[in-house]
Amino acid sequence: MLYHVIYSSRATPPLTVEQLQEILEDARAGNEKRDVTGALLYIDGVFMQVLEGEKDTVVALMARITADTRHEDVRVYHEGAVDHRVFGSWRMAYADGTPAQLSAWAGLPGTTTLDAILAELGRDTTRASAVARGILGAIAG
Ligand SMILES: Cc1cc2nc3c(=O)[nH]c(=O)nc-3n(C[C@H](O)[C@H](O)[C@H](O)COP(=O)(O)O)c2cc1C
Repeated sequence: MLYHVIYSSRATPPLTVEQLQEILEDARAGNEKRDVTGALLYIDGVFMQVLEGEKDTVVALMARITADTRHEDVRVYHEGAVDHRVFGSWRMAYADGTPAQLSAWAGLPGTTTLDAILAELGRDTTRASAVARGILGAIAG
């Protein structure tokens, strides 16, 4: 069964450009092995990631990722079966962005701080899928 997870987390400070690059390399290598696709968004110390693949694979990978000490405060907004991959062409697409972009994607134009946006995403999980589409738009150009 094709499955996805959308979560956010906070980078364990200080996160250098090199460390971010290393996380992406680890992710791409791991996902190649597992036939997982997805996207990683990084905004002001906050990660938002979409993982797509076989259910058992994604659940097991999510457990490893959650245990990774390079980030903390992992919050899952949505997980479940999906009919198709949104990021099928990317082992792990990368995008950076601003809180304003994230709030626009989430349909929360009046919500300006990252903390407030994440709190709203937690309240209404349908917004997480909208964010995934926003990330896709940002990386697809
Ligand atoms: C924010 C973040 C996102 C990550 N995303 C992935 C991912 O998509 N795929 C992956 O295999 N590892 C990902 N990792 C790395 C894993 O946590 C872990 O380091 C990697 O799977 C290697 O694990 P191992 O050393 O136990 O084999 C991510 C780590 C962080 C901090």
